[in-house]
Amino acid sequence: MALKITVIGTGYLGATHAAAMAELGFEVLGLDVVPEKIEMLAAGKVPMYEPGLEELLAKHVAGIEGSSGRLRFTTSWEEIGEFGDVHFVCVNTPQKHGEYACDMSYVDRAFASLAPQLKRPALVVGKSTVPVGSAARLAGLLAELAPVGADAELAWNPEFLREGFAVQDTLHPDRIVVGVQSERSEKLLREVYATPVGEGSPFVVMDFPTSELVKTSANSFLATKISFINAMAEVCEAADGDVVKLAEAIGYDERIGSKFLRAGIGFGGGCLPKDIRAFMARAGELGADQALTFLREVDSINMRRRGHMVELARDAVGGDSFLGKRVAVLGATFKPDSDDVRDSPALNVAGQIHLQGGQVTVYDPKGMENARRLFPTLGYAESALDAVRGADVVLHLTEWREFRELDVAALGEVATSRIVLDGRNALDSVKWREAGWTYRAMGRPKA
Ligand code: UDX
Repeated sequence: MALKITVIGTGYLGATHAAAMAELGFEVLGLDVVPEKIEMLAAGKVPMYEPGLEELLAKHVAGIEGSSGRLRFTTSWEEIGEFGDVHFVCVNTPQKHGEYACDMSYVDRAFASLAPQLKRPALVVGKSTVPVGSAARLAGLLAELAPVGADAELAWNPEFLREGFAVQDTLHPDRIVVGVQSERSEKLLREVYATPVGEGSPFVVMDFPTSELVKTSANSFLATKISFINAMAEVCEAADGDVVKLAEAIGYDERIGSKFLRAGIGFGGGCLPKDIRAFMARAGELGADQALTFLREVDSINMRRRGHMVELARDAVGGDSFLGKRVAVLGATFKPDSDDVRDSPALNVAGQIHLQGGQVTVYDPKGMENARRLFPTLGYAESALDAVRGADVVLHLTEWREFRELDVAALGEVATSRIVLDGRNALDSVKWREAGWTYRAMGRPKA
């Protein structure tokens, strides 16, 4: 009999995981505590923008014409307990208010609700990004609260998906990491992931703490790589060098690699910023804070980028202040192909300029609704052209393909001043300059 799988928490991670598990052939039941989310998903609609996810859901959600019917949703914990052989916990662990540590309350509540429903043998698999030591604690909680006792086991299986590539990353992971305490857990997880493992994804087995650390150290490494190149951008600016050329040249060294060396306004989103902070906080609790003090620098280099972009924009509009100046902002999401504006460097810059008296108009292909909710006082336009109309400076802050394909001559016709600042080093400088624009980017020579 094929395993029956439940997925608890249906955000970016959970909704994608649930659809992917159905795609792999399993019967899947997803749960969320927000009934509106469940209603949407049950109708095959995705509560966020993630390329390919809606199609995958439509392919499997029960009740949709032509679907496999393998994927259903519920808000009932009892139903989850009765249904599942393997339960994936995919709830989020945001940064705590006013602290570096991560907020474990969603994870804790999920386990507290699930455990009493485990009346038959089951494997609970944590996927959320958690402070090291959490899995051991949660295993204890399961043992205490599950009616089935030791037959309710825990495993930890961190998720490395990137927003914008969530479906691809989930179906074809570059590695599968599992923290287990028994052969039975390992065997069950090998069964769950038989397809990707068969296709060549490495399956790496380890203990609980190492599996928790893999995730936070991977994200710390990525954040460090971005801040490294942004630090080089600062030096390039001081020395009249070109960070884009520098990144290309060092990237050819296979030991360094060219990915994650794009200098600009830095990283944001729901993961990297809060994960490095939570990692520092946890290391402090463990008495290993010295090991991670460099992450403080990684964080501050990153945050400095946003301020630097604001300064460049102020310079571009005359140098004194933003009062009476119109600023067009292209991009609101923390990265392209996503509607996520959590800790978005683009919105942060837009917000700072607005607070300093600038008249900011934002346009983003997918993030407008979320941006409006977070920053209702900013101006919003329906298109890049409308945002640029009358602008004294144009800021390119999220590298959507749409912005690389803009008719820059037409934009030049409606802008008050033809000055574009590329906060992502992603526009074609030659094209903009040929159309009469002054093009400036971070870490690159002025001319
Ligand atoms: C990240 C990890 O990549 C993923 O493995 C983990 O599971 C979750 O966190 P994600 O938050 O989706 O994924 O975004 P990612 O693609 O890593 O980008 C993070 C931020 O870094 C974005 O704001 C992006 O614009 C920025 N970035 C990325 C750069 O500034 N320069 C780069 O070279 C690469």
